[in-house]
Amino acid sequence: MTDTYEQLQQYAKDHTSRESESLQFIVKATAEELQYDDMLSGRQVAGLLRLLIQTGNLKQILEVGMFTGYATLSMAEVLPEGGRITTLEMNTLYKSVAERAFSKSGLADRIEIIFGNARETCVSLEGGLDLIFLDADKQYYPEYYKILKPKLTSGGLFVIDNVFWHGGVLEPSDRKSRAIDELNNMIAKDDEMETVMLDIRDGITISRKKPAKPISD
Ligand SMILES: C[S@@+](CC[C@H](N)C(=O)[O-])C[C@H]1O[C@@H](n2cnc3c(N)ncnc32)[C@H](O)[C@@H]1O
Repeated sequence: MTDTYEQLQQYAKDHTSRESESLQFIVKATAEELQYDDMLSGRQVAGLLRLLIQTGNLKQILEVGMFTGYATLSMAEVLPEGGRITTLEMNTLYKSVAERAFSKSGLADRIEIIFGNARETCVSLEGGLDLIFLDADKQYYPEYYKILKPKLTSGGLFVIDNVFWHGGVLEPSDRKSRAIDELNNMIAKDDEMETVMLDIRDGITISRKKPAKPISD
């Protein structure tokens, strides 16, 4: 990566809206209690999700991979009236940080955490989802896409994080790179979806389920 590219990445972060105190709490607690915070989606990705939710008036949200709840709470802060976020996570330590933050924020009643292996818990979820944020279990990305796409409303959005896998998708040689590259190809060729891949952070795809065309006589 060139110096200029890295500087522009920093410049983009510096010119993105600041986060709330509750989100700052998550960033701090994650760094202090876990000593690693590189899985946090951060202001740019979460900021994009917030704008999508607000401009599309999206109400039923699913997140696969909550970690310490940064994107979850960020989305909950801008949910329209009657909106709800379901988030899937399997790590108790991450869940405890998130739960504390949700409770402090006063928005816990908008969030349902389903604890367990998302590959299993996602199967029985109800449909009618307006936005799905896929951010976990990278080697199974194609499977999540196949299971979850039917649960998306017509016009709903599939948002997928880490679609570059730190450059691994250019010459996929490990399981995660291969799986992510497989999903990237699958979604780009899917005529039922309108897709754009953006080079924000580690790459993010936004894909909209096209409304079905009315059958003409
Ligand atoms: C990249 S982090 C998610 C970051 C989060 N969306 C955010 O905004 O900060 C991925 C998370 O997925 C969780 N995860 C990975 N595989 C999983 C699985 N099979 N079922 C449930 N959670 C899983 C990990 O424990 C981790 O917390």
